[in-house]
Amino acid sequence: MDIRIPQVALGTSRISPEKLEVTIKRALEMGYRHIDTAFLYGNEEAIGTTLQEYLKSTTLSRQEVHITTKLSPTYMKGSAVGPALDESLRRLKLDYVDLFLIHTPCALKEMDTYTEEITQSTELMSVDLRETWKAMEDTVYKGKAHSIGVSNFNTKQLDYICEVARIPPAVNQVEAHVRFPQKKLQEFCKSRNIQLQAFSPLGSPFFTGTTDINRVQSSDNLVEHPVIMEIAEKYKRTPGQILLRNLVQRGIAVVPKSENPQRMKENLQIFCFSLSDADMNKMDELDNGIRRFVFLWYKNHPQYHYDVC
Ligand SMILES: NC(=O)c1ccc[n+]([C@@H]2O[C@H](COP(=O)([O-])OP(=O)(O)OC[C@H]3O[C@@H](n4cnc5c(N)ncnc54)[C@H](OP(=O)(O)O)[C@@H]3O)[C@@H](O)[C@H]2O)c1
Repeated sequence: MDIRIPQVALGTSRISPEKLEVTIKRALEMGYRHIDTAFLYGNEEAIGTTLQEYLKSTTLSRQEVHITTKLSPTYMKGSAVGPALDESLRRLKLDYVDLFLIHTPCALKEMDTYTEEITQSTELMSVDLRETWKAMEDTVYKGKAHSIGVSNFNTKQLDYICEVARIPPAVNQVEAHVRFPQKKLQEFCKSRNIQLQAFSPLGSPFFTGTTDINRVQSSDNLVEHPVIMEIAEKYKRTPGQILLRNLVQRGIAVVPKSENPQRMKENLQIFCFSLSDADMNKMDELDNGIRRFVFLWYKNHPQYHYDVC
């Protein structure tokens, strides 16, 4: 399986709908070659339309762009996985995705239609993760996903599927940033040749919304943290670049979201400098073990994943 993925992906989950098309087009123009979406984000259709138009009107080829999407927790039964990817592909107007991730280990009750939305009252459901993984592997055999992986999985859950996997997971996408650096999980993934990919790599600094199904913890804003600002000043970079560089220098791929042209550009320019060991160590000290996001609706789920690294 080809696991070479561009180390920076544009996160799309919080791009405002009215700015989505212009942001995707701008990202491709700037050189982003990896777009991260998910069935749950409800934006696959708009991304698909923009991508199709962009590919038609430029010399960029489909093969040069890496598209990641994720399986909704409502379609984790083996029989539902293939059709769910077909629906994502229809929305994205693609024949295949480069990377297909199980969005979360916690399954929810299957929806009757793809347009139904998850709410706080959507029932939890227990699905054997090996059943889901087998169906994920079938999407590769059918050529509909070039690689497959997981998101929000802990070490136990990874082990559980790795023991029987014919195709091992290429990626585990999890929350990671200097406050919650995921060192143990990273070590584990490294030993299994699984690429760790960081969502909310900047610590989701301006996201304050708490919903019925999400809780945001810790209000500190990492791009304004004095230690990060001091290091940024020293390297003549922005705090955002320092936070992203810290992760890629540790070997973690990043999925920053931005819809601001200047910041989008900055977030790509993190490979032309490196941080000294002393500054990396200084950033290590910011680890407080606090996740920014806790998904409340999984609290009583048998696969609840937050109590194990
Ligand atoms: N797999 C999962 O379960 C999961 C969960 C959450 C998120 N994700 C993925 O990860 C992506 C990113 O996560 P996120 O949006 O929570 O967090 P994030 O990327 O850490 O933070 C995004 C926020 O930071 C701002 N920002 C971006 N670049 C900046 C820079 N250089 N300097 C200062 N501020 C900057 C953005 O504002 P502007 O837009 O105004 O620049 C936005 O408010 C999502 O879009 C999604 O694709 C996956």
